[in-house]
Amino acid sequence: MSVKQKTIDLRKRMQEALQGGGSKAIEKQKATGKLTARERIIALLDSNSFFEYDLFVEHSGKDFDMDKKYLPGDGVLTGTGTISGHPVCIYAQDFTVAGGSLGYMHAKKITKIMDHAMKLKVPIIGINDSGGARIQEGVNSLAGYGEIFYRNTQASGVIPQISVILGPCAGGAVYSPALTDFVFVVDKISKMFITGPEVIKTVLGEEISMEELGGARVQAELTGNAHFFAESEEECFEQIKKLVSFIPWNNTKKAEAFPKKSPKTKSYKIDSIFPTNPQLPYDVRSIIRAISDDSDFLEIHERWAANIVIGFARLNGQSVGFVANQPLVLAGVLDVDSSDKAARFIRYCNAFNIPLVTLVDLPGYLPGIDQEHAGVIRHGAKVLYAYSEATVPKLTVILRKAYGGGYIAMCSNHLRADFVFAWPTAEIAVMGPEGAANIIFKNEIINAENPEEMRKKKIAEYKKKFANPYVAAAYGYVDAVIDPSETRHFLIHALDISKDKQETRPYKKHGIPPF
Ligand code: HXC
Repeated sequence: MSVKQKTIDLRKRMQEALQGGGSKAIEKQKATGKLTARERIIALLDSNSFFEYDLFVEHSGKDFDMDKKYLPGDGVLTGTGTISGHPVCIYAQDFTVAGGSLGYMHAKKITKIMDHAMKLKVPIIGINDSGGARIQEGVNSLAGYGEIFYRNTQASGVIPQISVILGPCAGGAVYSPALTDFVFVVDKISKMFITGPEVIKTVLGEEISMEELGGARVQAELTGNAHFFAESEEECFEQIKKLVSFIPWNNTKKAEAFPKKSPKTKSYKIDSIFPTNPQLPYDVRSIIRAISDDSDFLEIHERWAANIVIGFARLNGQSVGFVANQPLVLAGVLDVDSSDKAARFIRYCNAFNIPLVTLVDLPGYLPGIDQEHAGVIRHGAKVLYAYSEATVPKLTVILRKAYGGGYIAMCSNHLRADFVFAWPTAEIAVMGPEGAANIIFKNEIINAENPEEMRKKKIAEYKKKFANPYVAAAYGYVDAVIDPSETRHFLIHALDISKDKQETRPYKKHGIPPF
């Protein structure tokens, strides 16, 4: 054959492989509102940047007549490309081919591209649309998942790992994402579960739909398994592009610096956001926007454990991770879920050299039987651990309440914040004035001629003495009490001078955090 004929032959082979599960299966995929695996990759990456590998890999299943079946690309596309000019490794499972199920060679394609990502030190993005371990390939499918999980763990904290759930994902198809840094879901399209409704019905006799069991809203609002929720696949890809603009390409780098931009102070004014009455709530996200470049804030886990807010923004062009109590929800308390949410994010930022900015306004850890029995001690300790362990620049601003364990946990001086600033509205004490007065002045209040009057007097006395930032400042626990309008100014300076911060920790193989 001439070169020309061989090239025509190549094109023919490619054409066959590129058909995926065929027109009928593709039609079915489209009817459920889903893009095909290839369309997804093309939509996410820079235009014309996708290079595909292992297109001609064939499955190795022999049982249950599998040897008679042709599964194009073995149900997964792998390759490299760029996002905003930066290289990434990517794979996308093709549900039109045997339900995107993972057989031995399918897994080999994924682990090969993961190994590339680790060698090249670039992010790995996995688009999951799969019924999990390919049943016909038995233990070889399980082996495939084991190899992926092992690599997910080795890559953790070295390169960013991003998972997109774009279909009904079962078994191993959700455990690999659970080991990665960020999980994206799309309304009505994403479903995640270990065992699907059929198995639940057989084993437990319980009936539930896929959507109710593990739909996108369940994962983004109830379980916290998903970090980002989108209404459509297109919106999801835009979210991913935005996320990667804030993070470094691997753990030896810093996030790319962007041109400096001022906050949109016409829309976000601290004076009008922050209430005069200390009992009133406010949306801490507006404070973040009031101090961040272009008032641009990418919130993570927006729909889950909303009593704490986490996400990325920029200060003078530099990426920072914000952790902020949210007075709008449960007065911003730390509880089981918000502790989990904050602690993992703090560890992410620390692993990837992203400075942390903590905004404090909380009455403490949430009291209650439910919380105690749900393990608030263990979960709450994660926050203490994560902040104490972190060596990236740590800047804290106490806006209002900083009581009890909450004061210590929210990146206090004692957990080695580099700079702690407090607004004059800060109240730093063991507990709130009402509770404190009731306990320490109990006898005076009970024995007073007018107990209510006495209670008010004692609360006022306590407030004057402790509910302010000056006692903490007198001990040097607060570095500066600042005018709220100067917050951005102080933070940018602190970030600038912390650029080359180095802090060591005792040698250890690894710590044993309370997870
Ligand atoms: C082989 C599979 C498959 C699987 C789906 N298919 N899952 N083939 N192994 N695991 C095939 C179907 O036979 C069908 O083939 C095609 O994919 C489309 O599947 P449908 O069932 O028609 O689609 P849908 O109704 O949308 O349901 C999707 C689904 C369901 C919810 C994912 O297929 C399902 O429940 N699959 C099994 C899920 C599961 O239990 N997986 C094993 C998990 S255990 P045809 O030829 O008809 O088009 C696991 C182990 C690892 O992963 C655990 C690690 C901790």
